[in-house]
Amino acid sequence: MRILSGIQPTGTPHLGNYLGAIRNWVANQNEDSLYCVVDLHSLTGDIDPATLNANTRHLFAALLACGIDHDKCTLFIQSQVPWHSQLNWLLECVASYGELKRMTQFKEKADRQSGYRVGLLTYPVLMAADILLYQTTHVPVGDDQRQHLELARELAERFNNRYGQTFVVPEGMVPQFGGRVMDLQEPIRKMSKSVSSPQGSIDLFESESSIAKKIKRAVTDTDNEVKYDWESKRGLSNLLDIFGALTNRSPVEIAASYTRYGDLKADLTEALVETLTPIRLRYEDLLSDPAELARLATIGAGKAEPIAAETYRRASAAMGLLS
Ligand code: TYM
Repeated sequence: MRILSGIQPTGTPHLGNYLGAIRNWVANQNEDSLYCVVDLHSLTGDIDPATLNANTRHLFAALLACGIDHDKCTLFIQSQVPWHSQLNWLLECVASYGELKRMTQFKEKADRQSGYRVGLLTYPVLMAADILLYQTTHVPVGDDQRQHLELARELAERFNNRYGQTFVVPEGMVPQFGGRVMDLQEPIRKMSKSVSSPQGSIDLFESESSIAKKIKRAVTDTDNEVKYDWESKRGLSNLLDIFGALTNRSPVEIAASYTRYGDLKADLTEALVETLTPIRLRYEDLLSDPAELARLATIGAGKAEPIAAETYRRASAAMGLLS
């Protein structure tokens, strides 16, 4: 088993990132695992250099604060391993324009921006390069990455058929609960770094009082029946899903033990505070030593680089490039 996953330093990481992905990274870090802050991906949007620079360092610290242990796995920053961009080009010459244009996330983001960057279109190819460079067998991600993952599989198969066996075809690992955390104010859309309103999203570093306020104001419904039902009770089902993911219980079972929304919200707040407070404290501590963070990033890139270099060398030779 070889695991790889990544997260963009586009904004502050939120509860969706944690429950959909990071928590499962920690759970699987004793396998042969690599996790990266995918800073090159953030260049597809409008982000100023100082913000990207700070976000990347902060997200690296956040992952450590969440429990990623650099002794157990490889934690690195994507742009510090140059083979990602190199393999990206080879795969861009395997992917087709039509299949990239059809990606749901591209269509949604392109609709919101005029004059979007070419990188927004080709982004899933870079993600495929991230995955395929490490001969990854499993990719722990949230539900929103399924389509991108499918493309990575498709590109691996197409490359292998055209140029000979080179890449492992990876499998996704999407958690049963918490794989799609919805916005607390508009539960028809996912919690997101870029789109959610401040009230709709819970940051990993949110204070206790702010968590309490947001859960209290989270949209539910007026019929006062505690039931897990995504069709008719999205807001409530989202809260039950979050609670289930945090406590490793089934949302249906949790629903059965409450009769009032207020009691459920109070206990969910407590569970969130219990999980997020130690993360916030560790994060603040880690940020106080930037030199140590830089040292750990260099170690991580040093561990990732030889694996990536070897795959790149094989892929480029398979395509006929001189070494
Ligand atoms: P990103 O940075 O948007 O999100 C990081 C991870 O968090 C998950 N996630 C969620 N899970 C549940 N509910 C939500 N509301 C929610 N929002 C985000 C995402 O599914 C993801 O697992 N393209 C990727 C980054 C990437 C990557 C990779 C992932 C680049 N290369 C290689 C895996 C392997 C992205 O933008 O994730």
